[in-house]
Amino acid sequence: MSGPLLKVDNLRVSFPSPDGPTEVVKGVSFAMGRERLGIVGESGSGKSLTGRAILRLIRPPGRVTADRIAFDGTELTGLSGRKMRAIRGARISMVMQDPKFSLNPVMTMGDQIAEALTVHGARMSRAKLRSRVLEMLEKVRINDPERVMQMYPHEVSGGMGQRVMIAMMLIPEPDLLIADEPTSALDVSVEAQVMDLINDLIVQNGMGLILISHDLDLVARYCDHVLVMNAGEVVESFDAVNMAAAQHPYTKGLLAAAPRMNETREFLPVLDRSAWEGT
Ligand SMILES: Nc1ncnc2c1ncn2[C@@H]1O[C@H](COP(=O)(O)OP(=O)(O)OP(=O)(O)O)[C@@H](O)[C@H]1O
Ligand SMILES: [Mg+2]
Repeated sequence: MSGPLLKVDNLRVSFPSPDGPTEVVKGVSFAMGRERLGIVGESGSGKSLTGRAILRLIRPPGRVTADRIAFDGTELTGLSGRKMRAIRGARISMVMQDPKFSLNPVMTMGDQIAEALTVHGARMSRAKLRSRVLEMLEKVRINDPERVMQMYPHEVSGGMGQRVMIAMMLIPEPDLLIADEPTSALDVSVEAQVMDLINDLIVQNGMGLILISHDLDLVARYCDHVLVMNAGEVVESFDAVNMAAAQHPYTKGLLAAAPRMNETREFLPVLDRSAWEGT
């Protein structure tokens, strides 16, 4: 592959307000290969909107503009809805932090993973489909995949639900995963397991990862390169190994204030089903 996997130039997101449009993402630019890029910043800094805007998952009246969003040589701005849907899910998957897009409560885990594969038109026999789903559950280190396939979302723990979602995201073999706070609902011990799993799968499959988090420690541990956002802008970027040399006062503040978040969180961040199904 030549050229970057993803190149974003001057990405802007705005919403209407009584005083006219308010810009909340203010000209974000970056380029990445098949590497692990972290986007870090405090709540409201525009991290999630940046991820969603790349996938055109921002609904009106939100407005997105960019000079360029090039994915593997294809310009995504101005792409038809149909072509964009073909890219979402199949080539770029996203785990959303927003809990309202949950696993389908009335569908077994096995059927949901199978659907993630067939929704883009993959045709295969039921037996083949079943073996792919089992194989994927094993990859995400679920011990008893035959049993878990038959289970419904309410029957599994948060950590297991997250593994099933990772299986769903990765079964179409995308080139890029955008993970928006993928572990923020999990205990710290399970968080490390799930992050290690995401990391192993990304590295094994030679994929790109955009990891979105408010946690600079986490991002530095699992990413090659870090972008720091503040108030809609990228204020600093550095290789994770050089984090200690971060210059920007805002980043220094984040570094100083980096206690691990371990208060109880209410929501399980879940897969945005529209990432497969389109909007
Ligand atoms: N639909 C919307 N209408 C108006 N403003 C919005 C909308 N969605 C987000 N915003 C605003 O845009 C800003 C950035 O939001 P975003 O969700 O990207 O933040 P974030 O960095 O992901 O924060 P968090 O860490 O809390 O998830 C916030 O100030 C938010 O209030
Ligand atoms: Mg967010």
